[in-house]
Amino acid sequence: MSTLTGRHIVVTAGPTHEPIDPVRYIANRSSGKQGFAIAGALAALGARVTLVAGPVTLPTPPDVDRVDVETALEMNAAVNAALPADAAVMVAAVADWRVDPSTQKIKKGANGPPTLHLVENPDILATLARNPRRPRLVIGFAAETEHVIEHARAKLARKGADWIVANDVSGDVMGGDANTVHIVSADGVESWERLPKGDVATRLADRIAAALG
Ligand code: C5P
Repeated sequence: MSTLTGRHIVVTAGPTHEPIDPVRYIANRSSGKQGFAIAGALAALGARVTLVAGPVTLPTPPDVDRVDVETALEMNAAVNAALPADAAVMVAAVADWRVDPSTQKIKKGANGPPTLHLVENPDILATLARNPRRPRLVIGFAAETEHVIEHARAKLARKGADWIVANDVSGDVMGGDANTVHIVSADGVESWERLPKGDVATRLADRIAAALG
């Protein structure tokens, strides 16, 4: 069996929260379960794992170094601070946009609902893939509801990742305990049967260990 002893791997997981004002935020339904399971499976194979986690209530897997963040900007900074790494597995559901936030709580008033000004967040995966300190193996996730493999292939090229783990989220994947994934790389597509997220994590960790040699 391959081992990951001596390797450092960065994993992102969970959602990000993008503040609107001091009391409100925009979020998404990511539970962080798949990313936490992957971080745990990599550590179980002996890797030093830095898990950059958005706001979730999950326990930290054994032997994993966890860095808690809230926003996409904080996640991006934490990923960069964690380098160098041999591999990165970007599982987080990063918000595509942040709000140009108000420093004061927005009051309900006579002027009707406020307009939220959205600003694009950095693409953490794409930025990392083009970083001079790019890990040797960069893996992204793609949550799709249709044309799963086609979209994953396009994402592989657009983001500069080595593998995209495509998952079909048209069912109850988000928050659920099972996942049906396809590993899309320059070598082709490997489709796995529907598996518990823990088993997806174990298989992916084994595959990463084999790839890093
Ligand atoms: O473009 P999309 O959000 O579908 O891409 C998903 C992949 O890109 C995931 O690996 C996710 O962690 C990563 N991502 C990122 N930063 C963003 C958006 C997505 O790292 N701002």
